[in-house]
Amino acid sequence: MYTDELLNEAWERLEGSILSCGEQQIGTVAAAADPSVKQYNYGHCFIRDFVPSALAFLTKGQGKIVANFLRQTLKLQINENNIDEIRVHMDGARPGIGLMPASFEVVEENGKQCIRADFGERAIGRVTPVDSCLWWIILLRIYKKATGDIQLAHESDFQQGIRLILDLCLVKRFDMYPTLLVPEGAFMIDRRMGVYERPLEIQVLFYAALLAADELLLPENKSDIHQEIKQRLSRLKNHIREHYWIDLERVNEIHRYENEEFGEEVVNKFNIYPDSLASWVADWIPKEGGYLAGNLGPGRMDFRFFALGNLMAIICTLADEQQSQKMMNLIAKRWADLIGDMPMKICFPAVEDKEWEWITGCDPKNVRWSYHNGGNWPVFLWFLVAAAQKTGRKSIAERAIKIAERRWIEYNNKDKWPEYYDGRKGTLVGKKAMRYQTWTIAGYIVAKDLMENPQHLEWIQF
Ligand code: GLC
Repeated sequence: MYTDELLNEAWERLEGSILSCGEQQIGTVAAAADPSVKQYNYGHCFIRDFVPSALAFLTKGQGKIVANFLRQTLKLQINENNIDEIRVHMDGARPGIGLMPASFEVVEENGKQCIRADFGERAIGRVTPVDSCLWWIILLRIYKKATGDIQLAHESDFQQGIRLILDLCLVKRFDMYPTLLVPEGAFMIDRRMGVYERPLEIQVLFYAALLAADELLLPENKSDIHQEIKQRLSRLKNHIREHYWIDLERVNEIHRYENEEFGEEVVNKFNIYPDSLASWVADWIPKEGGYLAGNLGPGRMDFRFFALGNLMAIICTLADEQQSQKMMNLIAKRWADLIGDMPMKICFPAVEDKEWEWITGCDPKNVRWSYHNGGNWPVFLWFLVAAAQKTGRKSIAERAIKIAERRWIEYNNKDKWPEYYDGRKGTLVGKKAMRYQTWTIAGYIVAKDLMENPQHLEWIQF
């Protein structure tokens, strides 16, 4: 088997994963049917999972399916008219106007095909998909950039959809921080993993969505909110660059932090105790490297490295140039830990033993070095390649793609495009991993395309 064949197979499989309603192609299923495996909701189209599929289709000029998807998901968004219908399935709870579902499926009712969404009311653990509405705006901008079609975003229902999302995100609550406060499992990591409060991934997507919204809203539809968006963007950027940043200099500071400081001009604003500095951090960070912390709140800094948040921070320039270079240095220097046998680790390190018990609630799917707890996910290949292109570190991208290709080609692709890999280096196909996972397949296609057509980075970067 050669790389050409692998890429051809990827395309065939991606096309095979297309979800249609009637004549219309409206998305891709999370994993194409493997009859031997229980499907759960992998026959659904997930908003977050569709992003790499959309990018892949756009590289072939197939914008129609992306427009259909955007239109379809917009219809599912919670608004004043459909809220009562949806409350029935939510024990009467009133979800926020503007919320978008995690996923949707095509079902038959009375002999007619219709769409059924899931806002978390059926999802395992009843998690809230906060990232969906953020990805939706980001994808709308990608679509505009790739096709040049600005009309879609300017349609009045799209303008209203963007506004509802902004209103939902910018609503005044009890919080003093510029970051977005969210419940546990509100994004790609949709299980209990200690990622509630202000996880990096949500902050980065929020930042990108705000930028995109400001770009897509017509002047008359943002006159009352434009200033607020600008201010929030600026506060959010400063906050993340300043307070989430970790490198050796910062670790030294934290190690010697004073505590219980009161007042405006204090150094240790969040009252982080030096003893909470994870023991692995100082030895792990190379002197030329750094990254953004996984989470930050009162007395809490999550020192774990999370791939999506860090890579997206590079792509949308939430991290500054120097920080972006240092993040890429970290990846290059900690290759075995972060890339290993399959790019790339969702987070590092894994939580184990007692920590695993209380952080995951003894979740057997999230044992150490598996799934969300330090598993390796091939979908990150495209994020990694995009970040590498953006920072001019092409060799990192080449090396990473080669690792995935070598594995898949050598095994004659017996791995069957799994969702994730297990083990400290990601050597084993994930214990419960779905096969023919669509974003694994699409991620590979997009990674290859970004190498060949680096100008496509324009679609996603800010
Ligand atoms: C799992 C992942 C989630 C993904 C879904 C469908 O639930 O945690 O991020 O969207 O599968 O692939």
